[in-house]
Amino acid sequence: MNRREAIKTMGLTLAAVVTAGFAPKTYAAILKDRAKKKKRIVFYFTATGNSLFVARQLTDTPLSIPQELKKSGLTYEADEIGFVFPDYAASAPMIVREFLEKAQLKASYMFSVITFGNASVNVAKWWDDYAKEHGVSFHYIKPLLMVDNYLPVFDMNEQKKMDKHTDENLAAIISDIAAKKSYVEPSDMGFFNEEMLRGMQDQHFSMTADRLLELKEGRCIQCMTCEKVCPHKNFSFADEAVAFQGKCEYCLACVHNCPQKALTLRPAREGWPGERNPEARYRHPHVTLTDIVNSNRQ
Ligand SMILES: Cc1cc2nc3c(=O)[nH]c(=O)nc-3n(C[C@H](O)[C@H](O)[C@H](O)COP(=O)(O)O)c2cc1C
Repeated sequence: MNRREAIKTMGLTLAAVVTAGFAPKTYAAILKDRAKKKKRIVFYFTATGNSLFVARQLTDTPLSIPQELKKSGLTYEADEIGFVFPDYAASAPMIVREFLEKAQLKASYMFSVITFGNASVNVAKWWDDYAKEHGVSFHYIKPLLMVDNYLPVFDMNEQKKMDKHTDENLAAIISDIAAKKSYVEPSDMGFFNEEMLRGMQDQHFSMTADRLLELKEGRCIQCMTCEKVCPHKNFSFADEAVAFQGKCEYCLACVHNCPQKALTLRPAREGWPGERNPEARYRHPHVTLTDIVNSNRQ
């Protein structure tokens, strides 16, 4: 290229830059920009998609707790680290607790969104205390009211029709977190007292699948969806039938996601309410069965 051609090329490049309205960046500046960009990690656990839907509004690539637990190391560092999970009996699912206990987390801003369906009671304070006991301090903990997937008490067809102002409340949470707000939702005990809560938690966290579940005669097509959505690999195929045993999260992923509605809660008996509507099941409308499988499969 002669001098005249070189000046022409430079001129064209400059014109292109001016037309595009920005100055060319050096490689070092691009790297500096990238380093400045905030890094946010969001961990989630879900059975019916509410918590996954929320986690996806907070980051493009949320990390499933049951999948992370399969890895070794569990050391995470970011500008912001968040947790999204369902409220179980005014506390956290066992698998979420296990992850919090095992993980090494380093971030200057830590937040949690706890999805719940009816009464959050003291779940934010409970999680705050629990995390602190395990060396983790959250700056922001907020429960978010969504569809209640607790089958012993609620009919999913009725739940789906209710307007719980989830979108507005979620928008407020997203902007709180963007502003790095410090806030832990105060307790609202309502008609609960400590003793009732403890009773509820004892019943919940001692649950086993064999006490909880039943297979409806003639419905199971052995697709093994129950096995695929179970975070504890509780289901297996034995003697030409689905079998379950062992550790149960009581998350109800197997029951809600069974395409045949073949899995049901055992019928009402003393001390056990059965379920409100065995023909009504729930999964968040923006979450697919494949999403739940990818989140929980062991
Ligand atoms: C076993 C169990 C216990 C629950 N306990 C409560 C509770 O104490 N208070 C409440 O408001 N919702 C409770 N829920 C409802 C869930 O927290 C709520 O529907 C949640 O958004 C489900 O999230 P997911 O779709 O991500 O699984 C419970 C649900 C289950 C399955």
